[in-house]
Amino acid sequence: MTIGFLGFGHMGQMIALRLRADSASQKILFLNQHPKKTALLAKKHHFTRATSIADLIQKSEIIFICVKPQNLNEVLSKIKTTKHKTFITIVAAIPTTHYYQTLGPIELIWAMPSIVNTYGGALPTVRGRYVRASTWKVAQKVLSSIATVTPIKESDMAVTTLITGCSTTLIAEFARLLLEAITSLHPLNKTIATKLLLATLIASPKLVEDKGFALIDEACTAGGITEQGVKIMRAHQDTFFQALAERLLTRTEELRKTYGA
Ligand SMILES: NC(=O)c1ccc[n+]([C@@H]2O[C@H](COP(=O)([O-])OP(=O)(O)OC[C@H]3O[C@@H](n4cnc5c(N)ncnc54)[C@H](OP(=O)(O)O)[C@@H]3O)[C@@H](O)[C@H]2O)c1
Repeated sequence: MTIGFLGFGHMGQMIALRLRADSASQKILFLNQHPKKTALLAKKHHFTRATSIADLIQKSEIIFICVKPQNLNEVLSKIKTTKHKTFITIVAAIPTTHYYQTLGPIELIWAMPSIVNTYGGALPTVRGRYVRASTWKVAQKVLSSIATVTPIKESDMAVTTLITGCSTTLIAEFARLLLEAITSLHPLNKTIATKLLLATLIASPKLVEDKGFALIDEACTAGGITEQGVKIMRAHQDTFFQALAERLLTRTEELRKTYGA
């Protein structure tokens, strides 16, 4: 099967490399905007470059749309063939109706990867209304090379994206700021402090998987030190966490409107 990538930046390359790691039998074809960059990428990854959008679409059975939202309309306007083609878009914030307005009733799947998918994780995925059962089956198989496919309703995409797309970065920033605060009170060699924190973070997912959120109460000895930290976080639930969640959702809506979807 030939899989085409319309846009081959951070996400496009990550997905293509995951597909290749899972199965060498698929042919990967890609297209970028700048020919010089395209040539370099072809050399670096040994993927085949397409000569144009028409060439990429004609030769591919499945086409991943991996351009930025601001480039989407330009790209959609150049797509002429949609029959017998499966489109998988990863463009954030733009609903499927936006694609139908330009391309008609295409077989379109909307998957929302995150940088965590470099190592697996979850892949929230919307089955577009015109996707046949057979197409859906094939697409899920392809997407499962990237991460665990989790079918969701389109109306849940924005909030799901906050969970899978933003959490890792927010948790990493939380850990970094916590480290900064702790070492501001008692200076510690930065390299050692970071090493300790990263080693702790790396071991944490297994524990969370085993115990779920019950871990929080189990780890908090009554009257102990961690309990104090958890209490402070809970005291800021409305002022910090609620405000954070609201801002993320509002930004999603702002982006959707910015790109005219
Ligand atoms: N980054 C994330 O963490 C993340 C997570 C989930 C979803 N997404 C979605 O993934 C999409 C891509 O994000 P990204 O971070 O991979 O962006 P990126 O690194 O900027 O990649 C975008 C690619 O699109 C290419 N492109 C632009 N216009 C084109 C055209 N007319 N024809 C062919 N190629 C064109 C660019 O080519 P040149 O490099 O030559 O300009 C570039 O390779 C976005 O829509 C974003 O919403 C991103």
